Amino acid sequence: MRTAIVSAMHEELSAVLDLMPDEQRQEAAGREFWVGHLHGQDVVAVLSRIGKVAAATTAAVLIERFRVDRIVFTGVAGGLAPGVNRGDVVVAEAFLQHDLDASPIFPKYEVPLYGLERFATDARLTAELEAAVRRALPGTRLHRGLVASGDRFVSTTAESLALQAALPDALAVEMEGAAIAQACHDFRVPFAAVRTVSDRADDEAHGDFVSFIREVASRHSAAIVEALLSAG
Ligand code: ADE
Repeated sequence: MRTAIVSAMHEELSAVLDLMPDEQRQEAAGREFWVGHLHGQDVVAVLSRIGKVAAATTAAVLIERFRVDRIVFTGVAGGLAPGVNRGDVVVAEAFLQHDLDASPIFPKYEVPLYGLERFATDARLTAELEAAVRRALPGTRLHRGLVASGDRFVSTTAESLALQAALPDALAVEMEGAAIAQACHDFRVPFAAVRTVSDRADDEAHGDFVSFIREVASRHSAAIVEALLSAG
């Protein structure tokens, strides 16, 4: 069983790489893939870079070239729904692209020719990831549900409120998950994702995001990944 651990930014992955004793760097598609072990398990760690296209490319290379059996994304997100606050953790049950709109040809948010607007994460891997979060970060408030992805850093209260009105069940917003979920759907590879809330996607989002990724993101990711992989 080979597990891919993916983050968008170095700050989200660096402490995970520190847990790998024997990683070998391999370059593909302009990215560095770190192939090795974590808690004795076969792991490939990689930075997808930011945005949906970068994330989809990364997923395709992980699956086709590195032959991973499952993909886990760990990183940060902006809290969208009321009550999803900085420091909380969101485990994704499904992803949607909030900036996809081929209407009137297809309904808004529907991925053309898939007949789907939401791509579910793998139920079993998601349950394992939730259990890992509970072990790694006891006392942290955990939410499970829909996460919205788009090629926008949402950094105004006005945009956040518009997204909340359009997608009342979306817990959080980020920039990669829906792309990986769609790629994993195509290749039939299990996918799960966990996001720590770095900001509220509001007028304070920029400053909140920067301080959070410097201070907390990598530690959270490493603790969760360690708990997931030590469980077997
Ligand atoms: N990732 C973390 N915070 C975000 C935000 N406000 N918008 C998009 N992606 C994010």
